[in-house]
Amino acid sequence: MPVLQLTANNQLRHLLGIDGLTKTHLIQLMDSAQSFFDVKGRLKQTDTLKNYTLANIFFENSTRTRSTFELAAKRLGAQVLNLPINESATSKGESLRDTIMNLKAMQCEFFVIRHPQSGAAHFIAKHLEDHTTVINAGDGRHAHPTQALLDMLTIRQHHQSFPHLKVAIVGDILHSRVARSQIAAMKLLGFSEIRVVAPLTLLPKHIEQTGVNAFIQLEEGIKGVDVIMMLRLQKERMETGLLPSNTSYFQQYGLTKERLQLANPKAIIVHPGPINRGVEIEYDCADSPQAVILNQVTNGVAIRMAVMAELAQQWRKS
Ligand code: NCD
Repeated sequence: MPVLQLTANNQLRHLLGIDGLTKTHLIQLMDSAQSFFDVKGRLKQTDTLKNYTLANIFFENSTRTRSTFELAAKRLGAQVLNLPINESATSKGESLRDTIMNLKAMQCEFFVIRHPQSGAAHFIAKHLEDHTTVINAGDGRHAHPTQALLDMLTIRQHHQSFPHLKVAIVGDILHSRVARSQIAAMKLLGFSEIRVVAPLTLLPKHIEQTGVNAFIQLEEGIKGVDVIMMLRLQKERMETGLLPSNTSYFQQYGLTKERLQLANPKAIIVHPGPINRGVEIEYDCADSPQAVILNQVTNGVAIRMAVMAELAQQWRKS
């Protein structure tokens, strides 16, 4: 039985992916995230999650996602347990199931999970009890829903609405859970055109059947777009031989200030990080006023506050 991420009342039970959510869910989460900013753009401190505990369980390295979940939980008044798995008993041979049994015993309500295996967050959600909720912080190549939500919030802050927007996702689409979740979110929000731009070896087969337009030439792919979403080469998930070298990748697919001119002059550049300057993006381009990469990080805290506040509703009403 697959785990349901919505309750019978259509409310969030877990956040495992964008698939299965509606446009209304996405808009509500973005509105709620926006409401956590005060008039000066500072994030508010609340006690919405006082007496709750969040376990941040990362089986992969992370800078932004792990720390913004922690900050978000603390801004809502929750307690946080950080469990970097390379410092835990998993590295001594403990199975995922046994780790979960121990986590259950710790009586945390929120489990934020990042794992190299697609489906890991679903698996954990299936084995936890009723009074717990799982947030997928990235599973293999599958999904990274909070990243897609914070990207949509950042786009909305700059372009106000979605239906007129053309967007190009550029880079290692094949290995990217971020691209999958972004595409799912953009389809729900009704973007005018979704393009993916990558060498053939980094494009999933039959990607066009999902309703996106595929380009293998960067110049053509970013012509006239309002948003350029850059992705890193995810070498940790890559078989060897898919790419000749970083230098030749940069020559063909690196975003430069010159190439940026092909997009709409008001286009923004988003990137989930970590950025690899000189590989997928030129130094100057990453620091240009059109790059909103650090705004994404701040929005990451706000969107994660919104997700946790929404998930906590299920216990308030029961
Ligand atoms: C992404 C991830 O881990 O999927 N980063 C992130 O969450 N900020 C993208 C990546 O690692 O390239």
